[in-house]
Amino acid sequence: MADRIYYPKSALAEAAHCKSMEQYKQMHEKSIKNPEEFWGEIAKQFYWETPTSDNKFFSYNFNLNEGDIFIKWMEGASTNISFNLLDKNVKCGNGDKIAFYWEGNDPDDYSRLTYRKLLEETCKFANVLKSKGVEKGDRVAIYMPMILELPIAMLACTRIGAVHSVVFAGYSSDSLAERMLDSKAKVLITTDGVWRGPKLLLLKTICDEAMAKVKVNNHEVESCIVVSHLRRLANPHGGGSTATDGGNIKNGINSNGNGANEPNIPWDDDRDCWWHEEMEDAEPSCYPVWISAEDPLFILYTSGSTGKPKGVLHTTAGYLIYAATTFKYVFDYKPNDVFWCTADIGWITGHTYVVYGPLANCATSVLFEGTPFHPQNDRYWSVIDKYKVSQFYTAPTAIRSLMKFGDSLVKKYDLTTLRVLGSVGEPINSEAWLWFYNLVGHGKCSIADTFWQTETGGHVITPLPGATPMKPGSATFPFFGVLPELLDEDGKIIEGEGEGYLVFRQPWPGMMRTLYANHERFQTTYFDRFHGYYCTGDGARRDADGYLWITGRIDDMLNVSGHLMSTAEVESVLTEHPAVAEAAVVSKPHPVKGQCLYCFITPNEGRKFEKQLEDELKKKVREKIGPFAQPDVIHHAPGLPKTRSGKIMRRILRKIAIGDRNVGDTSTLADDSIVDTLFQLRPQV
Ligand code: PRX
Repeated sequence: MADRIYYPKSALAEAAHCKSMEQYKQMHEKSIKNPEEFWGEIAKQFYWETPTSDNKFFSYNFNLNEGDIFIKWMEGASTNISFNLLDKNVKCGNGDKIAFYWEGNDPDDYSRLTYRKLLEETCKFANVLKSKGVEKGDRVAIYMPMILELPIAMLACTRIGAVHSVVFAGYSSDSLAERMLDSKAKVLITTDGVWRGPKLLLLKTICDEAMAKVKVNNHEVESCIVVSHLRRLANPHGGGSTATDGGNIKNGINSNGNGANEPNIPWDDDRDCWWHEEMEDAEPSCYPVWISAEDPLFILYTSGSTGKPKGVLHTTAGYLIYAATTFKYVFDYKPNDVFWCTADIGWITGHTYVVYGPLANCATSVLFEGTPFHPQNDRYWSVIDKYKVSQFYTAPTAIRSLMKFGDSLVKKYDLTTLRVLGSVGEPINSEAWLWFYNLVGHGKCSIADTFWQTETGGHVITPLPGATPMKPGSATFPFFGVLPELLDEDGKIIEGEGEGYLVFRQPWPGMMRTLYANHERFQTTYFDRFHGYYCTGDGARRDADGYLWITGRIDDMLNVSGHLMSTAEVESVLTEHPAVAEAAVVSKPHPVKGQCLYCFITPNEGRKFEKQLEDELKKKVREKIGPFAQPDVIHHAPGLPKTRSGKIMRRILRKIAIGDRNVGDTSTLADDSIVDTLFQLRPQV
């Protein structure tokens, strides 16, 4: 069944924004041949305080031989994103439309926010930021769970031209500190804590550790604004901010079944303040600061293959039109739909498809704080049923983990409102695709397997629900404005069927512009391998019908449950341990996570390799990077397979990790007996 082609259902196609492959091809061709006209038409839907200068709609250089890399869209134009997402929608008569249904970790906690209220809260918080001395161009770090104050904080930054840098609230204090230091964040916004499933996480405590680490490195976070989320949950009518238009919040820190008492929140009077206290007297209006098209909108850190995270920088005009357009076409969004993207806003998927894309289309979406497994493993299906969701966008790892619980949990709920299903973050295996298609989508929804990256800002290779015949596991064809090529090792274009490096030939509006404060690294990371192309770092195969199949990373990156990380960053944490002489990390296929971390460890002379060391190393990675990075396997390696020049042959380690004795040529190894030793020491997993 996996090699069958699945055609969009005719009812879906007839009503879709893009109804056929012919229409797709025409639109795609225009977007490539005449980007000014194609994107210029789309840009007209938004408000521009000043227009684009003559002949300046689109300029770029992708070729290092011809000078520095640059990408510019709509030069000379100015606008304000929050104005386009909020004021404009309210002015068009959509003030009472729900922007977000908030669904808490506990099913009894829920609320909602209209466009009017979102605008008011955004303006108030923008005034709070101003009162803390935040000005256009300043960086604001945000370390928050999935609560309404998170998009409010982001939009408030855009209101005044501040640059937000959201750090996923599952990252450790070290990771948060490293990111705040790199971006020189002036202000940090967080919450006292959050319940994730049955677990209480004290975010403010992590923030305090991070701010202390930043200070040791000669930078100071001037203010920390804290949402009283735990207290609000415990006492909905008491303290705490209530950025809602009604709902029900009754479960808090004392009622999640753990009997926990209100925790101590560390506090520094000179630096810290409560969100709700600051908001009390804040003015409900704030005139938007007009921002130039190429001024920064946000920084979002992503793992880099050297281990140091990369501050991907997106700018204003191009990102706005690209987020809006991909959202509209890829999810075939219509005004009465209810959209749900399960990704955390701390990742790019949440930025573009929880916040910017939906709001730019005046959409109603679900903002979900919880996990798929709490309080039961049917939570996703119950939320789809509860809000009558029409587009559901999630990750293959979530699908695989939910498949385990059988079909009956899905069948308990009415999922017939679904029209489009989306997948993102890693290749989706055909088994998961078919389960998603047949069971969740009742065989009538289209599946959008969307390939993209933090760097691309929005979808770049994806089916369109009403147009593209689907093949399970293929991300299919490029989105408007995107021109992919497959290159061989020598940079030669592979025509027709074949497999190679996935690169892009010209920029689309939503692509990154640079790495924050490091344009040099931007150029070497993405443009040096093949001059004239943006190199994704992924491999892809083109089949006889022209479909693209992403084959995975071809650099030293790996993708655990959709979280991209580098082997180098994990290795550097492991070798910090005093008992470890050397570490080499590879990825191993995992049935649920997609890939998992498999770590080879050489202990220092005289140190024994024992269970306690294994546990300490796993804990260290959790603490230093975050719980999602915990290694699955620690393998004792008295030595590593190295070439005579000292390069570790990861290809061999990957074979050992999967127990495949067919390791290929070992003649370049300095000592090939190590391969047998490593097979003998292979732990039973
Ligand atoms: O390897 C690709 C994989 O995720 C990487 C990007 O990760 P990140 O910047 O964290 O953004 C994730 C969400 C957009 C890519 O280089 N990836 C993402 N989507 C897919 C994918 N691999 C295969 N199929 C996809 N649909």
